[in-house]
Amino acid sequence: MYENILLEREDSLAILSVNRPKALNALNAATIREIGQAIDEIAADSAIRALIITGAGEKAFVAGADISEINHITSSMQGMQTSQSLHGVFDQIAAMNKVTIAAINGYALGGGLELALGCDIRVASTNAQLGLPEVNLGLIPGWGGALRLQRIVGTSMAKYLVMTGERISADEALRLGIVQKVYPAEELMAEARKLALTIGNNAPLATAAAKRLLNAGSEMPLRDAIQLEQALFGHLTATEDCKEGTTAFLERRKPEWQGK
Ligand code: CAA
Repeated sequence: MYENILLEREDSLAILSVNRPKALNALNAATIREIGQAIDEIAADSAIRALIITGAGEKAFVAGADISEINHITSSMQGMQTSQSLHGVFDQIAAMNKVTIAAINGYALGGGLELALGCDIRVASTNAQLGLPEVNLGLIPGWGGALRLQRIVGTSMAKYLVMTGERISADEALRLGIVQKVYPAEELMAEARKLALTIGNNAPLATAAAKRLLNAGSEMPLRDAIQLEQALFGHLTATEDCKEGTTAFLERRKPEWQGK
């Protein structure tokens, strides 16, 4: 059904691998459309609790937007549409009540790093290389990369990375908070699965509320974000899962979540 991605399901986990080996998994328009369709499919599947996005093969997560497609853009309007295309995917990821983990298994450059930055959490292999090299192509990052990076590393470091286009190692990305964990390449997917299951096994309404709060909170003044926190906290205290979680703690047993 898909030509440029692989979509696998393992119980409550879905794994989407970008699969364009001839272009180091670079994202052309067709691939972006397929990622959007796959995420719609996963979002609608109530059995799935977590989505891992990775790159097929051993060399690349995603080496950016497809440069040959950009080379053929004929108007600034078409360029703007290219910029808009992956933002729809980020909106889908944000709206999904499931955690999305980028497993960065090699080059995550330009649009590749931007795709990873649009996920909730990032883990990387020790051999991964990350960067936003668009200035070397006469461009700026067009899929939110500069702005999401700015919110993680601060304005000066974001300017440094975007204006030099420098590639950084997984360890440097960990130090900067761009990725949350680094593992040897052969352990990356097993660790990403473990992380997905850990989050997937936590109280589903609580993890969804945490995602919503932190996504919305990063775009709000603190005072407003705290009001949202209070509303979500209040909502959760009235759920069966909160009763179950607190009772299970007091009874020294494991909770059983209903998602209610
Ligand atoms: N788009 C299209 N094709 C790409 C590509 C890309 N982003 N990245 C790699 N490829 C292709 C290469 O053209 C090459 O194809 P051929 O075998 O047909 O020549 C193949 O993948 C293998 O690549 P290399 O031979 O270059 O492999 P390498 O090991 O020597 O180098 C690399 C690897 C450092 C990742 C290098 O390929 C590279 O620099 N790629 C481009 C990275 C980049 O600039 N990304 C940003 C894209 S622009 C963007 O993302 C805009 C945006 O924000 C929306």
